[in-house]
Amino acid sequence: MKYWLSDRLQTRAVVTKDPFLEFISTRRAEIEDWISRHITGREDRALFHRVLMEGKRLRPLLLLLVFEALGGTKRESALDVAMSLELAHNASLIHDDVIDMDLYRRGKPALWRQVGIGRAVIEGHRIINLAYKIVLEKGVEVARVFLDAWDKASFGVFEEVLTKSSSLNELYLKIAAEKTGYLFAAAAEVASILAETDQTTRASMKRYGLLVGTLYQLADDCVEIRRGGGLLRVILKIQQIEDIVRKAYIALKVGRFRSAMSSIVQLNSLSVFIKENMTRILNEIDELIDSIDVRHEYRDMLKRYPRYCVNEMLEEAKLKRR
Ligand code: IPE
Ligand code: MG
Repeated sequence: MKYWLSDRLQTRAVVTKDPFLEFISTRRAEIEDWISRHITGREDRALFHRVLMEGKRLRPLLLLLVFEALGGTKRESALDVAMSLELAHNASLIHDDVIDMDLYRRGKPALWRQVGIGRAVIEGHRIINLAYKIVLEKGVEVARVFLDAWDKASFGVFEEVLTKSSSLNELYLKIAAEKTGYLFAAAAEVASILAETDQTTRASMKRYGLLVGTLYQLADDCVEIRRGGGLLRVILKIQQIEDIVRKAYIALKVGRFRSAMSSIVQLNSLSVFIKENMTRILNEIDELIDSIDVRHEYRDMLKRYPRYCVNEMLEEAKLKRR
């Protein structure tokens, strides 16, 4: 009986052979394995396990996809950096949950509720430190990309707002790019560095990562708007953005900004704006990938990956609603 079942499963896997889905499942398993091998020897493995459990691993998957598409061969280095990105991403989620006072993460109580705020902040820092240490061993160039992305994700938006005035829509897109896009960009750029490509390819892949990450953030915002199903949730979202900007302006232009904000608060206009931009980004991704010299069996996968990320986001949202 047992054998029959496993045979049937195997047959199904062969029948539905889709190179992209196969890529996702095999590389995901590889990433999980790599992470657990590095964590099992640690005294604090229980904490790592709790923090890392059940993530979608979108950033490490992106790194491996680009790395392979460019014919990279230093696989252990790629896996190490992929793992570091995942570690740092998870640390940022710990800190985000403290800042936003979110109660749940991946369906479980947020870490700060399990161990207290102070400890959660410290553990987050420790995990980031570990990630940097691993990345540093891959050389200064890789470490710099990693650090720059981190800096952008945490501070970039303030800089941007302080140095030039953008339209509100531009600002929204910038925040999306910086919150999420730059870490995806770092994954793709490091993959190019490790695959030893030329500078043009490296820049194109960095752009690819930035677009994929930004698209993903827009999908996340879309889901949040829809889940709220009403204006209140959207206003809260807008207020979060406004809050970031307000801090940067340090009350300088608050009055003007608020009135500008109210003009896009309408649910429809914001959703439409987000959806239009998602389409625009997907088109740009397809064109960009056509212009890069990649292994031919990977071209389609590079185009499918952003769509896969958006779908994963939608699936996650469906699960949460249940
Ligand atoms: C959550 O990231 C924060 C966003 C950028 C939307 P993920 O959706 O990648 O989180 P996990 O790691 O899969 O839980
Ligand atoms: Mg999530």
